[in-house]
Amino acid sequence: MIPFQLSWHGGAPAERLHRRRPGGDQLPWGTLDLGRYPDEHGLEARRIWTNGVFTEYASAAAFSTLTTALLECCAPVDLVAMSADIVVDELFHVELSARLTMELGGAVPLDFDLAQIAPLADSGKRPLLRAAEIAITTSCVSESLSVPAMARSRALADDPLIRGVLDRLLADEGPHAQLGYWFLAWAADQLSNEERAQLAALAAETIEVYAPLWRNDPCTSCPLPRGLAGHDERGRAALQSAVETRIRRPLARYGIIVP
Ligand SMILES: [Fe+2]
Ligand SMILES: [Fe+2]
Repeated sequence: MIPFQLSWHGGAPAERLHRRRPGGDQLPWGTLDLGRYPDEHGLEARRIWTNGVFTEYASAAAFSTLTTALLECCAPVDLVAMSADIVVDELFHVELSARLTMELGGAVPLDFDLAQIAPLADSGKRPLLRAAEIAITTSCVSESLSVPAMARSRALADDPLIRGVLDRLLADEGPHAQLGYWFLAWAADQLSNEERAQLAALAAETIEVYAPLWRNDPCTSCPLPRGLAGHDERGRAALQSAVETRIRRPLARYGIIVP
């Protein structure tokens, strides 16, 4: 297994990315004063942001797979384009989060088999169902939960660089969570009752994967590292209510009743 380590080409490819996603260089890089925070907060922040880089990278892989699945089921062209464009958002988030992690003192080691990073291909299913599965796990569930989590981190952060990076990420995440529902608005009538039930079970399973974020108590690392973007009980409560308001209720509108 290769440790998770990123590289950067520079030159024309980097310029192209920054033309498409401007403003990153204007963030207050080089201003982070770690001396203002206890050492253990700095270390916890490095852990959080190392994991953040990884989850942004995993989101790029997930929306890449979703883009291919949308093409295979002949989804509306603008929705496919949006999905492909979100991949670039996520790679830009990888860049910002990685730069921030470096300013915090560098990444903590993280081992993951990148060959496993994208959602698994299941060729036994018809393309429409396959696309609906990835839309639900990636957009309707994962992205819907990342919005309140990130918003709470933003509210707790007091460092200008961290606030700037989180503002930039947050501005994109809302539409990422919408794409899945826009796809379902187009696809729902074409799904059978049995397929809708399968999708509801999949949504419930995916929510369960995230449930430790709000279910395990008490949260010993919660108050850490506050000013550098952490989490707290209010953030946990926000996640729990997002399951109802941002996932269960909107999915039910498309006949996907999550148990
Ligand atoms: Fe992101
Ligand atoms: Fe996202």
